[in-house]
Amino acid sequence: MENTPHVILVGAGAQQFAVENGFTLESVELSEDAKKAYAEWLKKSEYKPVINIENKKQNGPFAPNFFDDGTANHDTMGLVAMDAMGNLSGAVTTSGMAFKLHGRVGDSPIIGAGLFVDNEIGAATSSGTGEEVIRICGTHLVVEFMRQGYSPEMACKKAVQRIVKRDKEKAKTLQVGFLAMNKKGQYGAYAIQKGFVFSVKSNNENQIHQSKYLL
Ligand code: GLY
Repeated sequence: MENTPHVILVGAGAQQFAVENGFTLESVELSEDAKKAYAEWLKKSEYKPVINIENKKQNGPFAPNFFDDGTANHDTMGLVAMDAMGNLSGAVTTSGMAFKLHGRVGDSPIIGAGLFVDNEIGAATSSGTGEEVIRICGTHLVVEFMRQGYSPEMACKKAVQRIVKRDKEKAKTLQVGFLAMNKKGQYGAYAIQKGFVFSVKSNNENQIHQSKYLL
């Protein structure tokens, strides 16, 4: 965004730009667990990715805890921050999603879906099933709710409610969590399901919180 007139580059063009700007091309080796999981997946080759729900044991070749080492097939980490001058910022990184269609784009790289920062109002980030977040422009929605005067936690809750209202049965099978901070440094989170945790670090606080949840 600083070195081109654009907001997002993807695919071959993004790779070319990265290499031209000093990144080294590397090939990615699958771990032994990932090789086994992929071999299992190839037996049916069904595109049915399963999202990690922290409080649920999910079984089968597409389940998040399929890997022997206990790692999930999907996880996202988001961060919102305020500096000493009161400026807000945010970041989000994702593992992506295992067993997806080639070319799938999740919410994390999409501004207003996985991350949105408006330095006048607040910042928000999301974790979970990216498709559901994209469908409601999730983090933009959270920031807009804060603009309307809702607390960060209530803004996150209202965005979660929007997802659940679209399809409650589907929502029971997936997880989305939002995390937000407003311009006063107040913070909050909300998730569809139990188990979404977030950490807070400030001059006064250094602890892990369990997010409230809807279902
Ligand atoms: N939330 C990250 C993803 O769906 O890829």
